Amino acid sequence: MKHASKPFPQSGRRSFDVIVIGAGAAGMMCAATAGLRGRSVLLVDHATRLAEKIRISGGGRCNFTNRRVSADNYLSRNPHFSRSALSRYGARDFIELVEHHGIAYHERDWGQLFCDDSAQDIIDMLRARCDDGGVEWAMPATVEGVARSGDEAERFVVATTQGSFSAHSLVIASGGLAIPKIGATPFGYRVAEQFGLPVVAPRPALVPLTLPPETLALLAPLAGISLEVGAQCRGPVFREAALVTHRGLSGPSILQVSSYWQQQAYDAGDWAPVSLDLLPGVDAEDWLLAHAQDKTLLANLLAERLPRRFAHAWCELHDWQRPLNQYRHAELRTIAAALSGWQLTPSGTQGYAKAEVTLGGVDTRALSSKTLEAREVPGLYFIGEVVDVTGHLGGYNFQWAWSSGVACGLAA
Ligand code: FDA
Repeated sequence: MKHASKPFPQSGRRSFDVIVIGAGAAGMMCAATAGLRGRSVLLVDHATRLAEKIRISGGGRCNFTNRRVSADNYLSRNPHFSRSALSRYGARDFIELVEHHGIAYHERDWGQLFCDDSAQDIIDMLRARCDDGGVEWAMPATVEGVARSGDEAERFVVATTQGSFSAHSLVIASGGLAIPKIGATPFGYRVAEQFGLPVVAPRPALVPLTLPPETLALLAPLAGISLEVGAQCRGPVFREAALVTHRGLSGPSILQVSSYWQQQAYDAGDWAPVSLDLLPGVDAEDWLLAHAQDKTLLANLLAERLPRRFAHAWCELHDWQRPLNQYRHAELRTIAAALSGWQLTPSGTQGYAKAEVTLGGVDTRALSSKTLEAREVPGLYFIGEVVDVTGHLGGYNFQWAWSSGVACGLAA
């Protein structure tokens, strides 16, 4: 006889104050915070290894925060949403925690802070704090279902492959969709939809861009060449390195701008071009006009400031292959404008397999910015990357995980 499945058995069900699903950056921070306040906490994760994203982050050294964090470093339908959590638990608080645990760290460009030794130090610190808070674990455990119980004391029931559990508060910290091969799933969005919360369509962000065939034909042979650019897509200018790849462009400036390119595309329904200033800090027009009488090829002059092979490919792409003295001043002005704002229309991105984060997520309109609790579903919380708050490159995504984790852990 076939047995009916019983995803939510009544008997043998263990009860907690708080169940957190997702033992990544935000989930562990939240669980520890709630546990240290005396709440009984169960942390559930389907992975076999703890916090893989922290482990691989920052090239293995985890860029765990940034000295200069503000709401301006985040993309969201509501650009002010992150303010409350960031002001209650900011970069200074996390740095103090890191120092308290004796983790050596160093600062790189733009205020980015990295572990000296290994990202594992951050995982061990969070794990130790969970232990101090008496957090219990169900890991690896697949979540088979989540439901409301109808009981005010134990409002939620979670059925897993390690048994069935109930709790007064349920926290979803299952992250976004980047790098599915290490366990990213759309679980959090599905739970939001199950409880009637809107979700801003997720998109890969901080992701390399691909280029159309005609541009790629000239650039792909230069894969590996990097140059400093000022990249922009109707958002801030990111003055950092761009890297030519076999499929298009990558490097910090391109990853940064990819988030804006995506958002514009989503909001406006069109693919806005990416503008690259190839000579940041240089007045290209003055420079070219000062060389207007030179008999040297334009590409050779550009090679004084750009990688030589890139300069030649760029001139070939635009069919600007004559000596400088054969261009009229008006043409040199056009070339200067292209150097200061090369308009590129990417053909796409390299997708979630290469993305660092997910743009979009649980719509902030449905959440309290103070506690991350769903406005219409008391006791249900969403934190970390599953929420429609996406940081710039540079430690901002982890800071959002810590800040939203603490805000929720103090309330759940
Ligand atoms: P996170 O992804 O950390 O955790 C989610 C957890 O939920 C995982 O443990 C997962 O197994 C679990 N889970 C998912 N689905 C589940 C399900 N159905 N059932 C049970 N469990 C489930 N940011 C930064 O600030 N500095 C940096 O240096 C980097 N570097 C970096 C490198 C790379 C390669 C990537 C991919 C990303 C980064 N990031 C980063 C981004 C950063 O890693 C990310 O924003 C945070 O880890 C998000 O934290 P969360 O806790 O929200 O999700």
